[in-house]
Amino acid sequence: MDRSAPATNVHPNGEPVVRLEGVRKQFGKLVVLNGVDLTLPRGLTTVIIGESGAGKSVILKHIVRLLQPDGGAVYYEGERIDNLPERRLAKIRPDFGFLFQLSALFDSMTVGENVAFPILEHRQVTRREAVRRAREKLALVGLEGIEKQMPAELSGGQRKRVALARAIAQDPKLILYDEPTTGLDPPRADVINELILKLQHELHVTSVVVTHDMASATKVADRILMLYQGKIIYEGTSRSILEADDARVRCFVHGRAFEEDLQSLQGAR
Ligand SMILES: Nc1ncnc2c1ncn2[C@@H]1O[C@H](COP(=O)(O)OP(=O)(O)OP(=O)(O)O)[C@@H](O)[C@H]1O
Ligand SMILES: [Mg+2]
Repeated sequence: MDRSAPATNVHPNGEPVVRLEGVRKQFGKLVVLNGVDLTLPRGLTTVIIGESGAGKSVILKHIVRLLQPDGGAVYYEGERIDNLPERRLAKIRPDFGFLFQLSALFDSMTVGENVAFPILEHRQVTRREAVRRAREKLALVGLEGIEKQMPAELSGGQRKRVALARAIAQDPKLILYDEPTTGLDPPRADVINELILKLQHELHVTSVVVTHDMASATKVADRILMLYQGKIIYEGTSRSILEADDARVRCFVHGRAFEEDLQSLQGAR
């Protein structure tokens, strides 16, 4: 795929895999999402950037129905899922592979058991087959032969890769990455970027990556969206976002403080 081509609003195979329409979510008095519209086009990697606390993880949780909106609607493959009964949801849940923000491995299980766990839980397969598939997924993320190790014995980068192997254990159609490179040094972060590209290429999945790591965002993205104060305020490509006119986007992308944050600092002096 030509990564420099403008991909904004490109839906190469018709209907987007996911569509959020006017999604609103608040926790108590805190309005986190205030009318979010977005699509995840088939086969592409969409990156969502935004400052800490902006609501990026909350968006991902709406896509996989870990959260339900207070207003608006969420569609998966054209079907409205935000109000779907649990029984129907159970059928589509295996389509989603979620790499959680804090890798969240089971510390009392071996690496192999961690990866085999979702396979055994959701599919009618023998333990032997689950172990075989777990080994296959670990190989895909470049971690052959560590099935017997415990998570505590691994580095942060390896733990992320094990969590990624577990996220793809059920051959998902949609992979959601929440801060996949946070806490990793630049070379290890880049291994994760390369894996995101590899999985998209080899598994033909649709992906959404939430991050505030701009190097990662521009490397893996076909499209970049920016969430700011509860709304998507920018949609563009890795190239176009670097030249965006919007001051809020420019500040974020180039790592400068937002004007209003500076003003509040001055006010606090
Ligand atoms: N289950 C919840 N109950 C109450 N408040 C919540 C809940 N989940 C998220 N929030 C609040 O919603 C806001 C957005 O949270 P979210 O985790 O989506 O931020 P984020 O953009 O992912 O930030 P970060 O980059 O730090 O991960 C935060 O203020 C958070 O405290
Ligand atoms: Mg988050």
